[in-house]
Amino acid sequence: TIIIFDFGSQYTQLIARRIREFGVYCEIHPYNVDKTFLKDKNIKGLIFSGGPSSVYEKDAPKIESQLLELGLPVLGICYGLQLITYLAGGEVSGAEKKEYGLAELKLLGRSPLFKDVPDLSPVWMSHGDKVLKLGRAFEVIGQTDNSPYAAIAHKSKPLFGLQFHPEVQHTRYGRQILKNFVFEVCGCAGDWTTQSFIKESLETIKNKVGNKRVLCGLSGGVDSSVAAVLIHKAIGDQLHCVFVDTGLLRYREAEEVETVFRKHFKINLTVVDARERFLNRLKGVVDPEEKRKIIGEEFIRVFEEEAKKLGKFHFLAQGTLYPDVIESVSFKGPSATIKSHHNVGGLPDTFDFELLEPLRELFKDEVRQVGRELGIPDLIIERHPFPGPGLAVRILGEVTPERVELLQKADAIYIEELNTFKIYNAIWQAFAVLLPVRTVGVMGDQRTYDHVIALRAVTSSDGMTADWYRMPYEALAKISNRIINEVAGVNRVVYDISSKPPATIEWE
Ligand code: XMP
Repeated sequence: TIIIFDFGSQYTQLIARRIREFGVYCEIHPYNVDKTFLKDKNIKGLIFSGGPSSVYEKDAPKIESQLLELGLPVLGICYGLQLITYLAGGEVSGAEKKEYGLAELKLLGRSPLFKDVPDLSPVWMSHGDKVLKLGRAFEVIGQTDNSPYAAIAHKSKPLFGLQFHPEVQHTRYGRQILKNFVFEVCGCAGDWTTQSFIKESLETIKNKVGNKRVLCGLSGGVDSSVAAVLIHKAIGDQLHCVFVDTGLLRYREAEEVETVFRKHFKINLTVVDARERFLNRLKGVVDPEEKRKIIGEEFIRVFEEEAKKLGKFHFLAQGTLYPDVIESVSFKGPSATIKSHHNVGGLPDTFDFELLEPLRELFKDEVRQVGRELGIPDLIIERHPFPGPGLAVRILGEVTPERVELLQKADAIYIEELNTFKIYNAIWQAFAVLLPVRTVGVMGDQRTYDHVIALRAVTSSDGMTADWYRMPYEALAKISNRIINEVAGVNRVVYDISSKPPATIEWE
């Protein structure tokens, strides 16, 4: 295991993902966490991340200088390098010129950190501070035009610092440098794989659950699906899944879930038909936040009622992923609530269950990998994210059964064609939106006054920012044609060309 201490860099998760790609397990912890766990013999090295602070500021995040004395290899990146320097008695100050972007790294001497890295190579810089004087017993092992201390190392201990970011793609040999740290310096084995994860998880789940029962809210999304199949593989019929059909799902989604989980995986599954309940409560509601609130509340009610009927459960399974875990422990300033994301499936903590979260160590792409390994079909594994409130926030204005049906049909055609054109997987999220306006059209000799469907497709890596997808005209033409011809009540289709920010991915 490699431990990364996070000082608030936007790239911290990227470091962890890179290292895991080498088959080395790696965890992120906030810099101020209690460090007693470092006694674990499996821990082979530490990384100090970058961060927005300056080490010489009064409230700058610091870390115990004893960490440099544990005998464990340490790699400091950007702020991490400055911190190591500071802890080892060197000097850091604000640079007159901030350095941002590409620079050329020139290696000085040989270091195990730079095995198979050429003497000159491009690196990505992003910092405002610089080292003035090295810490005790440190030496320079690489420099750039603006940073005489771009890479440093201790003369006798495995302590290293890099002013540039090896985790970003622009640093051409960044991967190699991280690999060198993990294998050459820390001596990791590289045997952490999806199979080993599954094998270990099955044991852990069995031991933890014993003969107790587990309840799982299945959403049809990747995370809860993988969690359910993994847990089922471990404890079989002690698992019971509940899927709530809110009536706000994608076309035929409820049936698909039944087919995959009950028929294929033979998992105990209750599908609750709560369509009427949700639609009744949404009658006359147009405000998006109000819709979210109602759906969130109703979901919890339905789920609770159903759980009661099914008897006593000790555990509640959830598809929590590693980014959620880090998000909740990292020190981050409060950010404004733009939308309240009532995550359907996000249940209140008043529930008297112990949580079972078998995926809490994994990133999304690793979860997909595990899902594939477990034989979950691509339909579910590759599926775009879907908001908890479902189609309710894609039907602008009032949600009625007719409008749901209309949108489901248009959306199904859209998704089908994206698959036909083989562009579905190039898109982060694509969906149709039903607008609350009518426009004039002509059909035969008749004037029509009908609905407008907006098509949204974005690329993104995490949903936080997004760019509109440059959809081929042929695909747009086919989709528009089919929707207007096949979905009664639609006479116009438009394509959304806004990015996030300032737009959001959803329309509500
Ligand atoms: P926005 O629209 O905020 O969406 O750019 C970012 C991502 O979040 C999803 N989303 C939601 N997910 N409950 C959810 O569980 C919600 O209320 C909700 N609103 C948006 C959206 O689909 C996108 O993936």
